[in-house]
Amino acid sequence: MTNASASQADAAPIIRMEGVNKWYGQFQVLTGIDLAVRAGERIVVCGPSGSGKSTLIRCINRLETVQQGRIEVDGIELTAGGRNVDRVRAEVGMVFQQFNLFPHLSILQNCMLAPMRSRGMGKAEAEEIAMKYLRRVRIPEQAHKYPSQLSGGQQQRVAIARALCMTPKIMLFDEPTSALDPEMVKEVLDTMIGLAEDGMTMLCVTHEMGFARSVADSVIFMADGKIVEQAPPAQFFAHPQHEKTRTFLGQILSSSQHG
Ligand SMILES: Nc1ncnc2c1ncn2[C@@H]1O[C@H](COP(=O)(O)OP(=O)(O)OP(=O)(O)O)[C@@H](O)[C@H]1O
Ligand SMILES: [Mg+2]
Repeated sequence: MTNASASQADAAPIIRMEGVNKWYGQFQVLTGIDLAVRAGERIVVCGPSGSGKSTLIRCINRLETVQQGRIEVDGIELTAGGRNVDRVRAEVGMVFQQFNLFPHLSILQNCMLAPMRSRGMGKAEAEEIAMKYLRRVRIPEQAHKYPSQLSGGQQQRVAIARALCMTPKIMLFDEPTSALDPEMVKEVLDTMIGLAEDGMTMLCVTHEMGFARSVADSVIFMADGKIVEQAPPAQFFAHPQHEKTRTFLGQILSSSQHG
């Protein structure tokens, strides 16, 4: 235990953000973001709508650029731009609220596309890997269907499998269950729990507080473009330090009881 925590503390973070500021025109969307994520850590990001959660995680694979500060992913400095962006993107998988599958491609083809296009992988190998991850998310039997023939929960599991086919070191999730009907949320969360158990480094924007409690190593609360607090879930839920966090938790915990 002591050894494990000592070596974890020693390990260089796989994601490091330092003094990150970002503006959209005049509007400052991220302010003074400092964040360090170690390999294998699971972080849940929550906060009110418009607080900058999506922007924050989209900076990590440079779907968004920042004007100030440093972002380093697995020792690669992203803010330097250039070829580093491709190197980082090869290590970071992302799953969105909308599944973003190609409607005209089968499930199998959706999963084979990136490894063939950006890794130059042959068809047979890409198919083998696609099937491996479709089994992993427990829908290999859907491989030859098209996205519109699957339920939302199944489509989101395909989106997860598709990201895994690039064998990322880090997975980013942006509200992966919020577009799903309630009965499909669990199958997607279970898939994410499986990934966490296998040691994947994960940053998840989600308001699934049950998931945060049982899976996250730490929970980040954002408001107005800032990280207001970050704490292990037990402490975060039992003793939120800031008034804004308490207000937010009050709102979402009561809406999940009534909803
Ligand atoms: N491309 C853009 N141009 C200008 N403003 C933007 C852009 N994208 C986001 N914003 C603004 O930046 C702020 C943060 O947006 P962001 O999408 O990161 O919030 P969020 O915390 O993910 O919210 P939600 O919970 O609704 O998804 C919002 O005020 C939003 O209107
Ligand atoms: Mg968002």
